[in-house]
Amino acid sequence: MVDDMQKLVNYCKANGFMYQGSEIYGGLANTWDYGPLGTRLKNNIKDAWRKRYIQERDNSYEIDAAILMHPRVWEASGHVSSFYDPKIDCKRCKTRFRADNFITEISKGKVNGDSLKFEEINDYIRENNVKCPVCGEHDFTDVRKFSQMFETYRGTVDDKKSIIYLRPENAQGEYVNFLNVQRTTRSKLPFSIGQIGKAFRNEITPGNFTFRTIEFEQMEFQTFCKKGKDSEIYEYFKEYAKKFFKDLGIAEENLRFHNHDKLAHYAKEACDIEYKFPFGWGEINGTHNRTDYDLSRHQQFSGKNMSYTDSESNEKYIPYIIESTIGVDRAVLAVLSDAYQEEILENNEKRIVLKINPYIAPYKVAILPLTKKQTEEAKTIYKALSLEFMCLFDESGSIGKRYRRQDEIGTPYCITVDYDTLEDKKVTIRDRDTMQQERINVSDIKDVILKRIKKFEV
Ligand code: GAP
Repeated sequence: MVDDMQKLVNYCKANGFMYQGSEIYGGLANTWDYGPLGTRLKNNIKDAWRKRYIQERDNSYEIDAAILMHPRVWEASGHVSSFYDPKIDCKRCKTRFRADNFITEISKGKVNGDSLKFEEINDYIRENNVKCPVCGEHDFTDVRKFSQMFETYRGTVDDKKSIIYLRPENAQGEYVNFLNVQRTTRSKLPFSIGQIGKAFRNEITPGNFTFRTIEFEQMEFQTFCKKGKDSEIYEYFKEYAKKFFKDLGIAEENLRFHNHDKLAHYAKEACDIEYKFPFGWGEINGTHNRTDYDLSRHQQFSGKNMSYTDSESNEKYIPYIIESTIGVDRAVLAVLSDAYQEEILENNEKRIVLKINPYIAPYKVAILPLTKKQTEEAKTIYKALSLEFMCLFDESGSIGKRYRRQDEIGTPYCITVDYDTLEDKKVTIRDRDTMQQERINVSDIKDVILKRIKKFEV
């Protein structure tokens, strides 16, 4: 795994996984653009999630709800009143800090800023004569609320009445469609609605690369169930998410559960899965028992009856919701952090290799003609394999250098077309991790690769 975040940032930029957002304008803080490799990897992880959470499960349905929702949705959800960070500003250098994290850092972890009230944070700063880490002055504003919701206006009038919000989570799209999905799929409880989509949060805390961004993607999964079944389903989905990460190829020792001490306003039970990033443990999944809070609130704010009627007993009730959400960008970051390796080979050469699960690797195969004399044959093989896999064609540089390039971006298999291929209709297949080579028939390449990748299927 990678030992330094900056190394991973450099690696991702150099190889086309991610680039700084709006780079040619000096960048926009906490935004990142996915390049060709990053986009492939992200899509492969989303596809693996779809397979695991929607396709392989009974009674699970995917939706794609609008990002812009009725503003009352966010009043009902509690976001308008409660979704804020405590902030303080240095009056001298104007640097803004998220106050709770600031206290935890300044006190070197002795005080948990998260557990303090606003007044207590103000007192701590005053009594300990806390200095701004940027300019060294002790001159802060009091703690204030900083809404994490991005506001925009619909129509042409910029006034309070026309405010709409960029959604800060996908979940509400699933909740407001609960009755629609239940009715149109004729589902009985428990059933689940999943969604992959963008969310937006006006984050103050610096990002740690793509770990904390102002625009990110979530893979959300909401299971609607009867009260009484909720805790069992909650425990089940905690383990289900952990298994998903392990199957993506993340080492188990780099994953841990973290139960919340302080519960969100809607939660009865809450637990994160954290990954051991180079900067420390960080949340990549959250599983919450949200009780009947969300649907009850939507019933109250919309005036629409959100109860479910049990078709056998005729009992009517508002279901409980178990939510298990994975951040797509954090999953990508965890997979990359875990797979990155530097090896010293027998000849003392350093090899950077991305030992990523072949099933989610951006490219599955690279086709390499040994010399330009084999280009035509290699192109024919490349075209045929491209019907099945994401393939790369590379004919520039020595074969050793080309292997290294593929190792670095995690391509699990290289096919080398050499002098003998025209005669014996065989090629060499090289394995990224073992570096072992084997001679196989051209006609068998597709099946050999399919069989090897199948072993890693998520
Ligand atoms: N609907 C529940 C919800 O949104 P959350 O714990 O706030 O819960 C879920 O977010 C997941 O979304 C997190 O586990 C994390 O992976 C991801 N996430 C949250 N904020 C993020 C941010 N600013 N940047 C990138 N990913 C983020």
